[in-house]
Amino acid sequence: MACLSILLIGCGAGSTNSSGGSDATNSGGKKKLIVGTDATYAPMEFMDEKGNIIGIDIEIVNAIAEAAGFEVEYKNYGWEPLFPAVDNGEVDFAVSSITITDERKQSFDFSDPYFIANQLILVPEDSDVESFSDLADKRVSVQINTTGHLVVADLLGKTSSKIVATETMPLAITEMINGNADASVGDNAVIIDYKANNPNVKLKTIEDDSFEKEYYGLMVKKGNQEILDLLNEGIEKIKANGKLKEITGFDVE
Ligand code: ARG
Repeated sequence: MACLSILLIGCGAGSTNSSGGSDATNSGGKKKLIVGTDATYAPMEFMDEKGNIIGIDIEIVNAIAEAAGFEVEYKNYGWEPLFPAVDNGEVDFAVSSITITDERKQSFDFSDPYFIANQLILVPEDSDVESFSDLADKRVSVQINTTGHLVVADLLGKTSSKIVATETMPLAITEMINGNADASVGDNAVIIDYKANNPNVKLKTIEDDSFEKEYYGLMVKKGNQEILDLLNEGIEKIKANGKLKEITGFDVE
C-alpha cells in the first residue's frame, strides 16, 4: 500500500509523460497541450506587435481545442526545429501549415486534413516567367525543407546551386526581391498575403496546373494515438458545425 501511494505521488508530480509533451491539467480539469509552430508564416501563423502568436492556423487549433475540450499553449520553434520538437516530445503536436506527405508520414502521424493549399510562383512584375517549367534555368528561392523546396528540387535537381533555400518564407521572398533569385515558390496563402501587404513591391503570382493539391494536417509524435484521437475529434466537430469553414472560407473533404 505504501508503495502504491508513493507511485501515485511520483506519477502525479511529473509534468511530462512518457509519450511526451505536457500532462498538466488546469483548475478546470482540462488537459493543456503544448503546440509548436513556426510563427513566420502570415497569414497562417505569425506574431503580432506584442509577440502573440496569431493567424488562421491558430484560430483553427483554438476551435479544435474548444470543440474537443482541451487547452493550448503555443511555442514558436521555427520551421526545422519543429520536427525534432515533436519527435522528442517537447511539444504535444505541431501546427504550421504542414502538408501531409508520404515521406513525413514515415516519421510522424498526422491528423485528418483541415486545409487545402497548393504551390504558387511569385516573380517580379516584369519577369518573363509564365509557367513552372520556365523556372528550369532560373534561380528559385524557397523555404528550406518545405513542399515548395521539394517541387523546385524536382525541377532543378536536388543539389542545384540555383536553389536558394532559406530558414523562413519571408526570407526566401526577400532574396527574390533583392535579385538573388528570379522567383520564389511557396504555399499559395502565404504568397498571396505577402503580395497584398507589400503593394509597393511590384510582384505577380503565377499558377501552374502541375502543382498538386496539398492537405495540411496537425503533426504528432509517431504512435501518439491519444493526442491524434483528440485532435481528430475536434476537427470532425468543427467540420460538422461549420466553424472550420467560417475560419477558412472553404470546405475540406
Ligand atoms: N506546406 C509546406 C510544407 O508543409 C510549407 C509549410 C511551412 N510552414 C511554416 N510555418 N513555415 O512543407
